[in-house]
Amino acid sequence: MTPIDLGHHGDSEVLPGLVDFAVNVAVPRPPAWLRQELENALDDVARYPNVTPAVDALAQLHGCPASSVLVTNGAAEAFTLIARARDWRKSLVVHPQFTEPESALQANGYAVTRLILRPETDFVLDAARVPDDADLVIIGNPTNPTSRLHPRATILGLVRSGRLVVVDEAFMDVAGDGRDSVLDDAIRSQGLLVIRSLTKTFGLAGIRAGYLVAGSAVIAECALTQPRWSVNSLAVAAVVGCAGPRGQEHTRAVSHDLSFKLSHLVARLTDAGLEVVRQPAGPFVLVHHRHADLLRDGMRRRGFALRRGDTFPGLGPSWLRIAAREPAMTDALVAALALELAAINQSSQQDLALTHATKDPG
Ligand SMILES: Cc1ncc(COP(=O)(O)O)c(C=O)c1O
Repeated sequence: MTPIDLGHHGDSEVLPGLVDFAVNVAVPRPPAWLRQELENALDDVARYPNVTPAVDALAQLHGCPASSVLVTNGAAEAFTLIARARDWRKSLVVHPQFTEPESALQANGYAVTRLILRPETDFVLDAARVPDDADLVIIGNPTNPTSRLHPRATILGLVRSGRLVVVDEAFMDVAGDGRDSVLDDAIRSQGLLVIRSLTKTFGLAGIRAGYLVAGSAVIAECALTQPRWSVNSLAVAAVVGCAGPRGQEHTRAVSHDLSFKLSHLVARLTDAGLEVVRQPAGPFVLVHHRHADLLRDGMRRRGFALRRGDTFPGLGPSWLRIAAREPAMTDALVAALALELAAINQSSQQDLALTHATKDPG
């Protein structure tokens, strides 16, 4: 079997000139007030960065001690810090999900156990399938790419003595009312670690700003291998702004818009004949179609970038991930999708007719 390219991400689908439905960043650029904060921060870049204001702002936002927070160079850095935090005996990743956790573990010499959730059960997690001896369990909530939101009780059910449960909540800030977050639980626990990101909601993918929240002992373990000055001055300014009142107002607005964008996207895709995974909670949907691979290629020719599904363990070429965008953009996408689907259907009918004609020349 060809190994899956775990290093493939949505950004490599967005070739110049394509309309981007492949990357899950919610806004095309940071809000104006945040851009001003970033510009102001440029005045200080001759100095080495000081992460303390960012840590303090997050501690205040989440009502926890500063020792429960570690700011990282994007959420992605967290996976490497976690891989290096302990000598893991059995690390398990719940798939399909974002592939960087598995990549980071592999790069640090671990053979990762995969727990694959299945479409037949709506990608629901049955905690009993996690082997008892797994001392590291990584899960996304809501999960990229399934958009599945696991109940808080299910996540808490994974916690046990001698195990660290890592919950990637990169999209949780906009997922409904956030009631399934385990961030508050993580502050009080030594077995639970939450990862958050500023990338998606604030349009900051290029700045690299994320953070961890956990009990102080777990945070200290992760901090041990973080390179000095990993979090730059612009990222510090971004975290301070995003954790403040304007940042929280922006988050609420993005979350509110998301529910409209998602329901519009789901309705339009379903009308077009695509199968959409139910109850999406993240800013994207996972879609099934037997010719999804052809559809993606065809849509690229029609000017749209969609995220392939076959580089997620547990999925295959019949899956696509599509980002939630403004309704007018979604309508343009779906109009092109309808044309492409008609073209695919027509050519598969022609193929079928040709096969019959070859079998039965008379
Ligand atoms: C689930 C999930 N976690 C983490 C990340 C990485 O976030 P960051 O840009 O903060 O490194 C992504 C990016 O796509 C993601 O989808």
